[in-house]
Amino acid sequence: MDHLPIFTKMTGKHCLLVGGGSVAARKLDILLDAGAQVTLVAPIVSDAIVLQPQHAVTLLKERYNTSMLEGKDLVIAATDDHALNETIFHEASARHLFVNVVDNPELCSFIMPSIIDRSPITIAISTSGKAPVLARILRGKIESFLPHSYGKLAQLADKYRAQVKAKFPTGAARKNFWERVFEGSIAERIFSGNEDAANQELQALLEQGQEAPIEKGEVYLIGSGPGDPDLLTFRALRLMQKADVVVYDRLVSKGILNLVRRDADKFYVGKKASNHCVPQDQINELLVKLAKEGKRVLRLKGGDPYIFGRGGEEAEELVKEGIQFQAVPGITSAAGASNYCGIPLTHRDYAQSVTFATGHLKDNTVDLDWPALARENQTLVIYMGLGGLEVISQQLIGHGLSTDTPVAVIYKATQPDQRILISDLSHVRERVLAEEFKTPSILIIGHVVKLYDRLNQAC
Ligand SMILES: C[S@@+](CC[C@H](N)C(=O)[O-])C[C@H]1O[C@@H](n2cnc3c(N)ncnc32)[C@H](O)[C@@H]1O
Repeated sequence: MDHLPIFTKMTGKHCLLVGGGSVAARKLDILLDAGAQVTLVAPIVSDAIVLQPQHAVTLLKERYNTSMLEGKDLVIAATDDHALNETIFHEASARHLFVNVVDNPELCSFIMPSIIDRSPITIAISTSGKAPVLARILRGKIESFLPHSYGKLAQLADKYRAQVKAKFPTGAARKNFWERVFEGSIAERIFSGNEDAANQELQALLEQGQEAPIEKGEVYLIGSGPGDPDLLTFRALRLMQKADVVVYDRLVSKGILNLVRRDADKFYVGKKASNHCVPQDQINELLVKLAKEGKRVLRLKGGDPYIFGRGGEEAEELVKEGIQFQAVPGITSAAGASNYCGIPLTHRDYAQSVTFATGHLKDNTVDLDWPALARENQTLVIYMGLGGLEVISQQLIGHGLSTDTPVAVIYKATQPDQRILISDLSHVRERVLAEEFKTPSILIIGHVVKLYDRLNQAC
């Protein structure tokens, strides 16, 4: 090990920071975040350095001199003058001060790691100055799977530490207790922003002590987006790795299923419009049954669970049965298709509003509010609209939209086999039939479709 990682309490410590550019600005921010008192020395201070009245900074607009080292605990040189940096290093070292010359590992008695800040949890990564870019990349990877509220979880633990110690006299019992808190539903309450519920659950667990029953199951109602795995949210990915069992739909892409915990049991309940593999009430029953067995159930749905996804019906059933659940938003296919095809859903020149509608009603009709949908200056997005395309086109034209109103049909948006067809209201149906567009396809209707020619280039 080239360097010993130590975490230093900086409150009240005095730091000398030499430099007035953007590099010095970044170091200043970190020092202030850690509570240090900083003397900043630079004859010229750039706009990158922004000092607020509450900051503990003494600004000296002059050149560095040795006397400035007096009374300091730590020194950072962030100038572009190599000779000056070297002088600072030697003079600080002679006084046994910790000194860092930015981007020059040879002239450092300490180095500053890449930091992941989940205060009070701090994760520091160092490559001993050998590959700082690699450290930043590693940091990005860790950032992406570590929920931001981990710090709150540590604060919760700190709040109950004494009580837990009093309740569980042995180390082993305490360890069991904390593992259950950090890996179970209490942590999930914190991650989903429900601190009150987390406190209540923790207090109940504490009261039950060693008699606490086995943890109950719960359901994660997750939107997996339109298919490209890169569009998953951090939270969705984390819960996908945690669940014991997965109940998934036809619209969930293979790439996404591959990210689910390998040893999780998988139930396919996919359905095509009017050809339900598993009826909705049986899906509801399955979710309830699995959760009652104490399992962490991942209910994985295409797009967003609460947009034409029956997520609402499933959530209602879970509430009725007293089963804990959390819903995680996904990118709805309208947004995926729009962005991946270069068709903004609103644009000041073409559409001031956007409406999402379904082309497939519960009783197999397409009986929509046509006067409201056939308005100029709005974009209409129709999910599940292929089957009813003839009615949709006729009704929109019949209620006032021009026959040449542009229409885009996008099949498997965001996926490698995505296809798009650009047409207009009077021709779209024959084109869809001729080019054999199948489900899942989404319709974007309105003048924003004209932007496709220009913006699709960038997609
Ligand atoms: C039952 S709805 C589910 C919608 C989903 N909850 C969402 O937010 O996108 C199924 C319809 O969504 C649309 N859809 C879903 N994924 C799609 C994709 N990748 N490309 C195009 N349309 C898609 C199609 O219209 C499909 O028939």
